[in-house]
Amino acid sequence: MVHQSFSSRTKSRRLFGLILLVTFAVAHGVVDRKHYIVYMGQHSHPSSESVVSANHEMLTSVLKSYNGAKEATIHHYTKSFRGFSAMLTPDQASKFLENEGVVSVFESRMNQLHTTHSWKFLGIDSIPQYSNLPMDIKSDVIVGVLDTGVWPESESFNDYGLGPVPTKFKGECVPGQNFTRSMCNRKIIGSRYYYEAYEAINGPLESFNLTFFRSARDTRGHGTHTSSTVAGSKVSNISLDGLGTGNATGGVPSARLSIYKVCWFSGCEDADILAAYDDAIHDGVDIISMSLGPLPPQPIYFEDAMSIGTFHAFEKGIVVCASGGNSFFPRTTSNVAPWILSVAASTIDREFPSYILLGNMKQLKGFGVNTMQGQGKQFSLISGGDAAASGILSRNASFCKRNALDSNLIKGKIVVCKRESLIADRNEKAIAIKEGGGAGMILVDPLAKDILSQFAIPSVLIRHAEAQELQSYMSTEKNSTARIIPTLTNLGTKPAPAMANFSSKGPNIITPDIIKPDITAPGVNILAAWSPIATKDTAGKSLNYNIISGTSMSCPHVAAVAAMLRSVHSDWSPAAVKSAIMTTAYTTDNTQNFIKNDDSTDATPFDYGSGHINPAAATDPGLIYDFNTNDIFNLLCNYHASPAQLKNLTKTPFYCQNPPTHPYNFNYPSIGVSNMTGNLSVYRTVTYIGEGPTLYYAKLEPLRGVKASVDPDVLRFTKKGEKMTYRIDFVPYKSTNGSFEFGSLTWMNNVHRVRSPIAVNVESV
Ligand SMILES: *[C@@H]1O[C@H](CO)[C@@H](O)[C@H](O)[C@H]1NC(C)=O
Ligand SMILES: *[C@@H]1O[C@H](CO)[C@@H](O)[C@H](O)[C@H]1NC(C)=O
Ligand SMILES: *[C@@H]1O[C@H](CO)[C@@H](O)[C@H](O)[C@H]1NC(C)=O
Ligand SMILES: *[C@@H]1O[C@H](CO)[C@@H](O)[C@H](O)[C@H]1NC(C)=O
Ligand SMILES: *[C@@H]1O[C@H](CO)[C@@H](O)[C@H](O)[C@H]1NC(C)=O
Ligand SMILES: *[C@@H]1O[C@H](CO)[C@@H](O)[C@H](O)[C@H]1NC(C)=O
Ligand SMILES: *[C@@H]1O[C@H](CO)[C@@H](O)[C@H](O)[C@H]1NC(C)=O
Ligand SMILES: *[C@@H]1O[C@H](CO)[C@@H](O)[C@H](O)[C@H]1NC(C)=O
Ligand SMILES: *[C@@H]1O[C@H](CO)[C@@H](O)[C@H](O)[C@H]1NC(C)=O
Ligand SMILES: *[C@@H]1O[C@H](CO)[C@@H](O)[C@H](O)[C@H]1NC(C)=O
Ligand SMILES: *[C@@H]1O[C@H](CO)[C@@H](O)[C@H](O)[C@H]1NC(C)=O
Repeated sequence: MVHQSFSSRTKSRRLFGLILLVTFAVAHGVVDRKHYIVYMGQHSHPSSESVVSANHEMLTSVLKSYNGAKEATIHHYTKSFRGFSAMLTPDQASKFLENEGVVSVFESRMNQLHTTHSWKFLGIDSIPQYSNLPMDIKSDVIVGVLDTGVWPESESFNDYGLGPVPTKFKGECVPGQNFTRSMCNRKIIGSRYYYEAYEAINGPLESFNLTFFRSARDTRGHGTHTSSTVAGSKVSNISLDGLGTGNATGGVPSARLSIYKVCWFSGCEDADILAAYDDAIHDGVDIISMSLGPLPPQPIYFEDAMSIGTFHAFEKGIVVCASGGNSFFPRTTSNVAPWILSVAASTIDREFPSYILLGNMKQLKGFGVNTMQGQGKQFSLISGGDAAASGILSRNASFCKRNALDSNLIKGKIVVCKRESLIADRNEKAIAIKEGGGAGMILVDPLAKDILSQFAIPSVLIRHAEAQELQSYMSTEKNSTARIIPTLTNLGTKPAPAMANFSSKGPNIITPDIIKPDITAPGVNILAAWSPIATKDTAGKSLNYNIISGTSMSCPHVAAVAAMLRSVHSDWSPAAVKSAIMTTAYTTDNTQNFIKNDDSTDATPFDYGSGHINPAAATDPGLIYDFNTNDIFNLLCNYHASPAQLKNLTKTPFYCQNPPTHPYNFNYPSIGVSNMTGNLSVYRTVTYIGEGPTLYYAKLEPLRGVKASVDPDVLRFTKKGEKMTYRIDFVPYKSTNGSFEFGSLTWMNNVHRVRSPIAVNVESV
């Protein structure tokens, strides 16, 4: 096994004359030890080996035993930044904080994939938004994907027409179980996997009794899906059971993939993720796509593996896109560090309705994958609540869980069920009905539109309005009946895009002056490659392509656009790429109205950030809001950053200004003020990236309760690279009573529109 950080560790063992193969210390039974990450910022050591031995020295001095130190260590971070992870008692962990070089010490946490088990979809094809993209670009851009691995045999990873592996790539194809070196090609140019931290916390992978491969091979489907969404090769005539035939292609079919498997089953340990960043940055990837994150609340930057890993990536010029999460509610958006491009999820103009035809010939619109033979027969209806097994309360039976239904009552009928919670397993209900001899299921589900599930028997998800109609029919008709009509593929759905109900929302709880999420992209009913052995969420079917939903799916779309921008503008900084994507986003749907939420209210920047991604416009943004790592240090001076921490983040000493630059003046492509207590001015600097002289005019979209003006309101540029600073003066005249008001500032010349959303909260006037 040639796992990179493992091999550096074995080398150091050899240095100390020790035996190589060591089983990792598993914490089971050791009650008082937890898995901690000790983070030390940039390192100035000559080699990985010397970092490892310095780490061991430091561990030995705290643990008072060399062997104990060695046994406690899980990961060494030696390439792109310095640190380690180890099983420690809280006492030992806090001792490391006293050490000069230590920036932070925090417990390794489990992260979640930003899709959920039952959000499995069926359908088709590429994203219409990409039709304007220069698809034929020849690109050596390398996209690193941190996820559940990859199914290398998928047709989407064929390498026809691709040139040799870019010489700048320093990664490798690490072999493992059912994954040989030859499974990498000119599309999947590297693959690595990390399980040490996962096992240290959860015990051996074998103990889960679930199918897995101790390699980068994906048994979950998720990583295969996200990887092929970013950079899958073109594959024609994809269809599933005849539903929605089309061609599948990733956003940048010529880009290369380097795979980092950090998730096992559905959890991804911080310490493994950091190891992947340590490698990916060193391997030479240009873009990182990461469809996972912590459950809310988001930890502070210094205690969040994703924030640390992505910071070092940013520093090396790597653009990082991350999913914002699927947590539904305000203040839940994750991956909020300003150096990350964080992504919300919205619909595309396609849906897969499955209609219910009632006995009275009334038709109800629902959603679900119904492609089985013999679909569409008429059956009697019964509600789960009326079919309770003996000893079960009617309310409990309405959830249609196993052993709750009387099979004599549901035999040959379509059963109407409810969900007991947001995370309830949908297919489990269908299986319970099937086992009781039922013919089908109608499930009342607020997420019906956003999730197109696959079930063991014909099943349809309906929303509240349809549920009410159904109920009134069932209560008036003695023998109520229904047919579940086979699923259709509807194109040109309006309005679209619309925000997905589940998409996590702002404000940002760590840096409230930075609006998060940053952008929205297609994340509902997305078709991409799948792992054929991931059948748990496909009702047992082996699929090579599958449709699923989540910010997990929108994130790789944005990563693809970033990869495209990198192919066209190789000199752009990560902040410039981010600015181009954000300032060119649009906020109206295909009915020319503002993009809506699921409940038909207008979406705000806390739903979609700057708006919906607009790939073609992003290639030519006109002006750029740039920022670098020094600007980030200045920002961190406002948020829990001690001078000691900052000192070790970078090799050169960094001193916070006193007072530090206020976060609302961080040169971000959107404008947020979270606590306005009177007149206030905000500054931004734009860089002109066009050719020749031009004038840009400011246009402000007014905010309720706050007067705003821009000075100067005309920017005159003469040549490329020129920077201009402008000021926005806010004069609040009414408290917004704790909630944000939204507006926007757009700089326009005769070609470009450079738009920044504005969000302000007026605490007092
Ligand atoms: C942290 O900073 C101190 C002082 O600048 C330096 O001596 C030490 O080596 C640094 N630690 C690391 C891990 O680079
Ligand atoms: C994995 O490898 C084993 C042994 O080579 C083989 O029997 C098995 O079929 C492989 N599984 C898959 C899914 O390729
Ligand atoms: C795994 O399977 C074994 C044997 O079938 C069983 O003894 C064990 O309890 C199972 N473990 C879990 C966690 O289900
Ligand atoms: C799919 O690809 C095939 C072959 O490349 C092409 O002929 C066809 O027009 C494409 N279909 C669509 C819907 O783009
Ligand atoms: C597309 O695939 C379907 C089923 O896999 C097949 O019946 C059909 O002939 C194919 N169409 C083309 C144009 O290859
Ligand atoms: C109710 O309707 C179904 C479907 O048409 C039929 O099979 C069944 O016999 C009817 N039951 C009664 C009691 O009329
Ligand atoms: C009904 O469900 C509740 C909560 O899940 C459970 O506590 C209770 O025991 C159930 N009661 C019956 C009679 O099924
Ligand atoms: C959005 O989801 C929430 C939580 O499930 C639900 O309460 C709400 O009704 C949904 N919104 C719509 C419009 O369905
Ligand atoms: C807002 O700013 C005022 C004055 O600077 C301060 O007293 C107050 O605590 C702040 N409120 C919040 C919620 O940060
Ligand atoms: C705020 O600005 C307005 C407009 O410039 C000015 O009239 C007002 O006096 C200012 N208020 C304070 C408290 O400075
Ligand atoms: C301000 O917000 C509080 C709590 O949300 C609410 O009770 C109150 O009515 C609001 N006041 C105004 C003037 O809107």
